[in-house]
Amino acid sequence: MVVDYPMSDALKRLPKQFFADLVVKTNAEIAKGYDVINLGQGNPDQPTPQHIVRALQQAAANPLYHKYSPFRGYDFLKEAIATFYKREYDVDLDPKTEVAILFGSKTGLVEVGECLLNSGDTVLMPDPGYPDYLSGFALANLKVEKMPLTSENGFLPDYDALPESVLDTARLMFLNYPNNPTAVTAPADFFEQTVRTAEKHNICVVHDFAYGALGFDGKKPRSFLQTPGAKDIGVEMYTMSKTYNMAGWRVGFALGNKSVIRAIELIQDHYYVSLFGAIQEASAKALLGPQDCVRDLVARYETRRNAFFNAAHRIGWNAAPSQGSFFGWLPVPEGFTSETFFDELLTKAHVVVAPGIGFGSSGGNYIRVGLLTEPERLTEAVERIGALHLFD
Ligand SMILES: Cc1ncc(COP(=O)(O)O)c(C=O)c1O
Repeated sequence: MVVDYPMSDALKRLPKQFFADLVVKTNAEIAKGYDVINLGQGNPDQPTPQHIVRALQQAAANPLYHKYSPFRGYDFLKEAIATFYKREYDVDLDPKTEVAILFGSKTGLVEVGECLLNSGDTVLMPDPGYPDYLSGFALANLKVEKMPLTSENGFLPDYDALPESVLDTARLMFLNYPNNPTAVTAPADFFEQTVRTAEKHNICVVHDFAYGALGFDGKKPRSFLQTPGAKDIGVEMYTMSKTYNMAGWRVGFALGNKSVIRAIELIQDHYYVSLFGAIQEASAKALLGPQDCVRDLVARYETRRNAFFNAAHRIGWNAAPSQGSFFGWLPVPEGFTSETFFDELLTKAHVVVAPGIGFGSSGGNYIRVGLLTEPERLTEAVERIGALHLFD
């Protein structure tokens, strides 16, 4: 008899994958033969630049890399990310103590709660926010307090509006700029205020900088580590996924506070051996090599953003154009929730968006679009929505 083993309490606590149901609905519409424009997901659509792929192909032949990698990764990759941070942000990082290599930044984001907190401890996260943060909080059995992001506060947490008692009990805070899903960037003074708040209330800050390379209108997004004192109270998670279209390669970094890096490296000693050496070598080459591919990518996303928001404004859909990331965040029309608007667009315009409620209750009157297809297709999506006359 095949035994059906129950899952552990930790796994039972994992949140339901909100977006999984939407994929089922979307596929049902595609199966009916409709030409569905899917703007619901966040998977970069462009290939990894050729010079990085070639570096991997060459490195794959090196027998050294066919052995186990060093547990904590190769020094040359840690040195490369430190050089990258100095060059891009003028941030000094000691590659030996202030850098951990991750299997994609998601791994670090999920692990860090378990690394630093104990069951029942409090963590702060933005609402709306990236849902995968909740997975790590659930595994570590943390109490989650939400920091609402609203258009009135520029989609930045208002620390003064959070109860003192919540700030006093919180031990960890997650932030993410350029932000998924709201597509805003954070100004320097917000990060300064964050450091002051963290110092005052003894909170460790984890800044998710997944979209760090993607800022528009000539404005380069700031690294949290550029803020004086940031390394004393927190870390930043960086990823190769978006900057170099390397989402499938799974290369990320935790950078900053030594004690957090030490904890992440310790847990990883027990879970994994580091990434395939050839991937590490090609990643180092990507960080240290020519950066025209990144400039071209930002220009491509900016052209798409302009096409999408110009079309949206033409149909009377008033939303602030994205400042960064490859998303757009737009309000739903009167009389809709993000979920009913999703259904309306899927069934009547054959356009898929991500309902804001999937990112938290503060997202309930918004939808997120991914700018991950060409401008003509984005414009067509908006024109199909315009034909429903919901914004007239
Ligand atoms: C806000 C945010 N953080 C982190 C990630 C994870 O990126 P990766 O695990 O590929 O480094 C994503 C991916 O979509 C994201 O949107």
